[in-house]
Amino acid sequence: MRTQVVIIGSGPSGLLLGQLLTNAGIDNVILERSSKEHVLSRVRAGVLEQGTVGLMDEAGVGARMHAEGLPHDGFSLAFDGRDHRIDLFELTGGKRVMVYGQTELTHDLMDRRTALGTPTAYEAVNVTPQDFESQSPYVTYEKDGVSHRIDCDFIAGCDGFHGASRKAVPAAAIRTFEKVYPFGWLGILADVPPVNDELIYANHPRGFALCSMRSHTRSRYYIQCSLDEKIEDWSDDRFWDEIRRRLPAHHAEAMVTGPSFEKSIAPLRSFVAEPMRFGRMFLVGDAAHIVPPTGAKGLNLAASDVHYLFAGLLEHYQDRSNAGIDAYSSRALARVWKAVRFSWWMTTMLHRFPETSDFDQKIQEAELDYLTHSRAAETVLAENYVGLPY
Ligand code: APR
Ligand code: PHB
Repeated sequence: MRTQVVIIGSGPSGLLLGQLLTNAGIDNVILERSSKEHVLSRVRAGVLEQGTVGLMDEAGVGARMHAEGLPHDGFSLAFDGRDHRIDLFELTGGKRVMVYGQTELTHDLMDRRTALGTPTAYEAVNVTPQDFESQSPYVTYEKDGVSHRIDCDFIAGCDGFHGASRKAVPAAAIRTFEKVYPFGWLGILADVPPVNDELIYANHPRGFALCSMRSHTRSRYYIQCSLDEKIEDWSDDRFWDEIRRRLPAHHAEAMVTGPSFEKSIAPLRSFVAEPMRFGRMFLVGDAAHIVPPTGAKGLNLAASDVHYLFAGLLEHYQDRSNAGIDAYSSRALARVWKAVRFSWWMTTMLHRFPETSDFDQKIQEAELDYLTHSRAAETVLAENYVGLPY
């Protein structure tokens, strides 16, 4: 079999790239290790930058997102028993974010792909990019015990942090940068109305807390926890008690509690692989970089990578120019590093670090105080939160 672009992975990166290519008449095949159901069962973040919203529209799959997503013009920083609202809309000259779960976005893209019948192999095992430094790359895989080979022009490695694409690159050709944080997030989903109309990011002596949502009736809440914490030790009651202790009293009192239907602990890490192009293979999204969830940049970075790569591939096929492809890695990485910096900064400012010195604690408090008294500082936060331009 032959196609123009083989996409490895059907997460948001692979599906979004695939849809843009299909719309432009560029043939593509997606190879995904898991089943469709498994991909859709993963619970991930849910705040879209305007650029990501724009790409969903460009891909022609934005209708449900606009109907059901919640546009947010601001969020709250809570500390020292009070709230401070960051007015994103006003501080950025009219920009906002869209609260719409990654699972829903993935659903919309998968449904369109299925409706169009664009080739996709789920439960493909041993997917391996081959000869990508040559002019004739190909990908091999097995499905239902049968071996397959797809020849192509390009390979897009959209297969997440643990995928096969980055692993296929010789160690000498890649450089990685990593920071692991000494805590995790314990998150729950519950069908209770969100405690606030907007997100609340809280810094408290007992640790960070985040009140987010999926809809007017579904809340997504998180608390900072230690990495050796066991999920079995966290009953719903214990979780609700703990999050309420970390919020200003008026929110704690207003919080509606109820049974959770999802509960998990996630570690926090920053990771970047450089470069993001190896001959005729490109790394996209989580395959190339991971950010801690503070600031919700993971999915949005995947979207900006897709934007740059799609533009490059379009130039290649339509204008016979490789300029965009050649610039992909440096363009994507310039934006990636700024989001890595922002996520690291928000994480550092809002969490309690074990073994923090009194000096470090005072610096953190001064930073929050400065943020809430300086329009310039608030603007820095707001313009990064809504997303830097492509
Ligand atoms: N072969 C085929 N598919 C694979 C392989 C492999 N060896 N390894 C992983 N995959 C699949 C995964 O099953 C998954 O469906 O690749 C997909 C990668 O999807 P994500 O991990 O969601 O990564 P990405 O599409 O880049 O999405 C952006 O940003 O911070 C995050 O939460 C955010 O998941 C989101 C991500
Ligand atoms: C979420 O809703 O899951 C969410 C929101 C904002 C974040 C992280 C996660 O910064």
